Amino acid sequence: MTEAKKLPLVVLISGGGTNLQAVIDAAANDLPVDIRAVISNRGDAFGLERARRAGIATRVLDHRGFAERTDYDAALMDLIDGFKPELLILAGFMRILSPAFVQHYQGRMFNIHPSLLPRYRGLHTHQRVLDAGDEVHGASVHFVTEELDGGPLIIQAQVPVRPGDDADRLAARVLEKEHVIYPTAIRWFAEGRLRLDGGTVYLNGQPLEAPARLEHLGR
Ligand code: GAR
Repeated sequence: MTEAKKLPLVVLISGGGTNLQAVIDAAANDLPVDIRAVISNRGDAFGLERARRAGIATRVLDHRGFAERTDYDAALMDLIDGFKPELLILAGFMRILSPAFVQHYQGRMFNIHPSLLPRYRGLHTHQRVLDAGDEVHGASVHFVTEELDGGPLIIQAQVPVRPGDDADRLAARVLEKEHVIYPTAIRWFAEGRLRLDGGTVYLNGQPLEAPARLEHLGR
């Protein structure tokens, strides 16, 4: 596929960037995206190193230099828009976004979250699943709306909770699935098969009544 046909993408991170790595690897294979930049709110995020190794532009916009969330988000929007993305993905970007930011990228911003949303929004999802005694856990990709870890769901993957699991072991099992479902959702969007319209997700022209399930994709 030629560069011209690739979807321009910007990735926001705060940490290790294993989801970013999954997208970088998929793009090096056949995912039709052009990763224009990786932007972090933390200068020590290892994901920045992953981007550099892949020859991708990196930027750090430290939130500590801004008194107001809205000022930070306005500066972040300027930075992002300089790269002219058609899709913005949050890949472990651990900040709450202001309404203006969310509205600006409505329908063209994804998040990935380590739970079967709407269950377990927020932090420490793996420990909370263990504490609740759930037998099933998982990960979700969704369009971002103003609700924290809310927004119309695109795809989910489930993982079993096994006897003897601790939060780290469970997190590793969930991450493996995250690394599959994020490139999958990005591919659908890049291929023009996925869109958000009036709060409804359409996949292949059909409204999604429930999120797509990795287990049902015949992989
Ligand atoms: C991932 O598990 C992602 O789902 C989660 O942060 C981790 C980032 O890992 N995101 C959230 O919790 C968002 N609410 P990574 O930096 O290795 O991709």
